[in-house]
Amino acid sequence: MAARAVLCLAGAALSLYALHVERARARDPSYRAACDLGPAISCTRVFASRWGRGLGLVEGLLGRDSAANVPNGAIGVLFYLLQGLLAADQTPPDLARERSKAVTSFYHQPAIDIAAEKPSVRLTPTTMLYSGRSQDGSHILKSARYLQQELPVRIAHRIKGFRSLPFIIGCNPTILHVHELYIRAFQKLSEFPPIQARGDEARYCALLRELLEDHKDVVTLLAEGLRECRRHIQDERLLRPFLDKTLTSRLGMRMLAAHHLALHEDKPDFVGIICTRLSPKKLIEKWVDFARRLCEHQYGNAPRVRINGHVAARFPFIPLPLDYVLPELLKNAMRATMESHLDTPYNVPDIVVTIANNDIDLVIRISDRGGGIPHDLLDKVTEYHFSTAEASAQDPRLGGPFRNLLDLSNSGQAGPMHGFGFGLPTSRAYAEYLGGSLCLQSLQGVGTDVYLRLRHIDGKGESFRI
Ligand SMILES: Nc1ncnc2c1ncn2[C@@H]1O[C@H](COP(=O)(O)OP(=O)(O)OP(=O)(O)O)[C@@H](O)[C@H]1O
Ligand SMILES: [Mg+2]
Repeated sequence: MAARAVLCLAGAALSLYALHVERARARDPSYRAACDLGPAISCTRVFASRWGRGLGLVEGLLGRDSAANVPNGAIGVLFYLLQGLLAADQTPPDLARERSKAVTSFYHQPAIDIAAEKPSVRLTPTTMLYSGRSQDGSHILKSARYLQQELPVRIAHRIKGFRSLPFIIGCNPTILHVHELYIRAFQKLSEFPPIQARGDEARYCALLRELLEDHKDVVTLLAEGLRECRRHIQDERLLRPFLDKTLTSRLGMRMLAAHHLALHEDKPDFVGIICTRLSPKKLIEKWVDFARRLCEHQYGNAPRVRINGHVAARFPFIPLPLDYVLPELLKNAMRATMESHLDTPYNVPDIVVTIANNDIDLVIRISDRGGGIPHDLLDKVTEYHFSTAEASAQDPRLGGPFRNLLDLSNSGQAGPMHGFGFGLPTSRAYAEYLGGSLCLQSLQGVGTDVYLRLRHIDGKGESFRI
């Protein structure tokens, strides 16, 4: 559009100049224009010739003195002005059409519609564990073929979720961006040729790695995008199911993809992402160190954490969901402790983590003495986007919910302590997805106890599916 306007302006200016030269020459026959470079290259001679008027055609048809035999310069000015006006008139509908084409292309995808009709096949962790080993390595090809069937179906279900969002939310640029990421992932995965041999499988692994990387900021993007359109949606019941489903399905897909990639590794005590002898105490300690570092960075000090209960327990378990949930719960407990003891930051009460292991599940209780959650906020704290972080001086956008938490922990860098109001609702959704729960008990005025329950993968109770 800009190029067209520049061309019209240049054309009109040139035509005006030609008109000016012609007039000046008519008034003063000795006039020499800047474009008269020599006897052989002279624009005034061209303008004065029969080709300089009526495009050289009118004279032959209507005669030299016809009113229609106007200078070419005048025709040029008129032509370029009309062009310019037409361009200005046409552009907005063109653009609007293009934009609406881009949006409707999100909705007209027959392959996605077909895949979205298929049921998802969720695996129990025991199936993953026992099909995760074979002498001849055939389990790797089997696992890749399962993913090749399953991932496009799960992604198609999620795309359906994006399409069912109220239009005002679905059109938010950040939400559209995430929607597009899903469509692109669907296309890349469904265009992948059937996996027959080891070479295909290696290329499939490269694609999985690429997609894991492309989608790593999806939680942050959803948190940001939906925060932008929160004011348009009063009804919490609209967003909550969408976020619960999108986030837990994402967790499931990432677990499956990470499991497949990890099947190639020969890590002691691991089959894919399943640790056959997980020590909850060790995992908690790892995330305590991480949360304390963040807390020290933010508040200058951090509460000590004591771990008690079944500290020697070891059992088969998938650490990945805990890698998401534990740092969130520990950050919350540390923040509450520090902010309720701002006068005595170097003398703050400990946080106590209790491990309870039994036949059915693993229970982790995190008890802080950070003043508790006030009665009127208790129902709200597990709502997405509810946070008391605005009161804090820290810019929460430094990082996002779960943004590279694992990277941060490995690099020793500091990240945000709080900010999006996603920690509790997402942790609860993850726990419930894995057949467990997250409950809060607030002792207003004293502190908070958070109970995280996660089902055993080989426990007595009914198993969950990923
Ligand atoms: N242990 C706790 N003690 C007191 N208040 C708490 C505790 N845990 C959570 N809260 C309150 O619940 C709110 C929501 O917690 P949530 O973890 O969901 O979000 P956040 O910590 O504000 O941001 P982020 O998305 O970074 O976690 C917090 O802002 C805080 O006010
Ligand atoms: Mg939090």
